[in-house]
Amino acid sequence: MSELIEIKSAERIFGGGKTLFGKALPAVHAVQDVTINVKKGETLGIVGESGCGKSTLARLLSGLDRPTGGSITFEGRDLAEEARKNPRELARQVQYVFQDPVSSLNPRKKIRTILEAPLIHLLGMKKAEREKRLEELMHAVHLAPEFLERYPHEFSGGQAQRIGIARALAANPEVIVLDEPVSALDVSVQAQVLNILDDLKSRFGLTYLFISHDLSVVETISDRVAVMYFGRIVELGSRDAVFTAARHPYTHLLLKSAPAPGRKAVSGGDREAELPDPYNPPKGCAFFARCPRGTDVCQSAVPPLDGDGGHRAACYHPVEPDTAS
Ligand SMILES: Nc1ncnc2c1ncn2[C@@H]1O[C@H](COP(=O)(O)OP(=O)(O)OP(=O)(O)O)[C@@H](O)[C@H]1O
Ligand code: SF4
Ligand SMILES: [Mg+2]
Repeated sequence: MSELIEIKSAERIFGGGKTLFGKALPAVHAVQDVTINVKKGETLGIVGESGCGKSTLARLLSGLDRPTGGSITFEGRDLAEEARKNPRELARQVQYVFQDPVSSLNPRKKIRTILEAPLIHLLGMKKAEREKRLEELMHAVHLAPEFLERYPHEFSGGQAQRIGIARALAANPEVIVLDEPVSALDVSVQAQVLNILDDLKSRFGLTYLFISHDLSVVETISDRVAVMYFGRIVELGSRDAVFTAARHPYTHLLLKSAPAPGRKAVSGGDREAELPDPYNPPKGCAFFARCPRGTDVCQSAVPPLDGDGGHRAACYHPVEPDTAS
């Protein structure tokens, strides 16, 4: 698989700057020093707690926002530049699926109109061609063509999310960024939508960036997993490596909170402890206050994302495989 997206030291700070009188304004470091490549055809799962920067990263990756530092390239071209110069082409290639399926669809428009919009505006399709494509799209997400004449409020959450996916698929994208696409759905409906996503990925050769706070969902769908904490990637590896031989104490805390048969997690970690103040990030490891393995060195500087091969963790005292019992 070749590299499709390359993210180098990406950073997104909100606020900051100075007042007219030179007083510094507070700044939130939502995404910090994120470096990761996404290969064509893979599903990269991004997991972490609320507020850790998942949606901010998703918006950067889809060109809806631009980084305040570092760079993101798509097929070798700077994504922020593409979003400025060729917004239509970028929108065709990179699509976004939102968390709340019903409110992400315009309530005053029929499904037909919603799905036709990208066909007209991004692909310039004529009527007859559109009709054929609409049928294909409905078929792809397992919905009857009659549903095209309905309004969003007439759908269940799972059906509405399938429409959201059909809308993202309409323009034949290469990448779909899915931001908590099943979090608002019941567990049984989640499974249905995840199966459809899996099927579409292999049929259309898609690349997914799949964001969720739910470890089991990420485990189901991902080839590789990035664990985020306080704006940074703290562990990165293949799904198997992260789920069976996690190295970062935070990943272990997540695993402990979402146990599954056959999975090991070390004890310790304080789930309830507060996250650091985003306006005043700590000098060292942001997980220190919750970490059972912390020592003085952890407070001296942010730990780099290190490790052999494709499995890396940002920790001075990572969990070794034989200690995870
Ligand atoms: N437009 C903004 N202005 C100021 N701060 C922001 C903005 N967007 C996000 N943030 C801050 O950036 C941090 C990361 O937010 P983000 O929405 O990316 O988190 P998340 O991981 O998606 O959370 P959730 O799981 O709740 O959706 C938070 O501290 C948030 O308050
Ligand atoms: S660097 Fe230290 S505080 Fe941070 S996760 Fe590792 S052991 Fe814990
Ligand atoms: Mg979010």
